[in-house]
Amino acid sequence: MAEGTAHSTQSLPLQDRVAIVTGSSRGIGKAIALHLASLGARLVINYSSNPTQANIVASQINGNSTNRAITVKADISDPTQVKTLFDSAESAFNSPVHILVNSAGITDPKYPTVANTTIEDFDNIFNVNARGAFLCCKESANRIKRGGGGRIICLTTTLVAALYPGYAAYVGSKAAVESMVKILAKELKGTGITANCVAPGPIATELFFEGKTEEMVKRVVDMNPFGRLGQTEDVAPLVGFLASDAGEWVNGQIIRVNGGFV
Ligand SMILES: NC(=O)c1ccc[n+]([C@@H]2O[C@H](COP(=O)([O-])OP(=O)(O)OC[C@H]3O[C@@H](n4cnc5c(N)ncnc54)[C@H](OP(=O)(O)O)[C@@H]3O)[C@@H](O)[C@H]2O)c1
Repeated sequence: MAEGTAHSTQSLPLQDRVAIVTGSSRGIGKAIALHLASLGARLVINYSSNPTQANIVASQINGNSTNRAITVKADISDPTQVKTLFDSAESAFNSPVHILVNSAGITDPKYPTVANTTIEDFDNIFNVNARGAFLCCKESANRIKRGGGGRIICLTTTLVAALYPGYAAYVGSKAAVESMVKILAKELKGTGITANCVAPGPIATELFFEGKTEEMVKRVVDMNPFGRLGQTEDVAPLVGFLASDAGEWVNGQIIRVNGGFV
């Protein structure tokens, strides 16, 4: 079945489960949302500023049906808006949320050294990437369905392992998430909810290209054993697996998906 098309089969791995994918109007989050929809899930497409792109993703999922995907504007760094995200999902689909994928994230396209990182940029990055992930995890831990099928998946980055100069605030914010999620997985003992991080290498999205010269991009391509950039579709199937019942035994892990460059 083509990604993102509406369907009525009862045997799909995520049939009718409710998934919130933050930052799914574009980039990696969009590919994840379309993939989870192709596995049968009902989707909340979240964004913070651009409704047009979010609406396109929802229409692609809905096809001729109207009740498979909704869009919700919410800034994940704001606790009230994160609550609204969950409220909207529960009321639109008349169901608890089963799956939370936190893909919303930002970087500093100036790639500054620590010495040159402004306090504002540091705070912005930590607000969205670390505080945002914390708020999504907190709400998920309290509200995701117990007793099987509950999933929390946070997007971090392979750079936590590669540790390149120019990424300190960004990588620091993602390292914080990786530690938090490993602890969360243990705290969720007895709920049947798993918590994991998916840590991509460089993926061809706006976030990746912003502020990079052609030469910088070429260097990244040359470093990869596959000699290419990752595509959003290289990440989505792993998230689909973790979200499925077959992924239950993968819990409290950081899974890198990067073509082998680290
Ligand atoms: N691309 C890479 O090379 C790469 C590598 C490793 C890890 N990652 C991680 O993967 C995730 C997705 O990255 P991407 O490359 O897909 O980024 P992207 O193409 O820039 O998309 C970012 C998405 O996040 C949303 N967003 C931004 N700030 C938000 C906020 N405060 N609240 C809610 N939504 C917000 C954006 O919506 P609006 O347009 O409405 O703001 C957009 O949908 C990020 O966590 C990133 O750190 C990316």
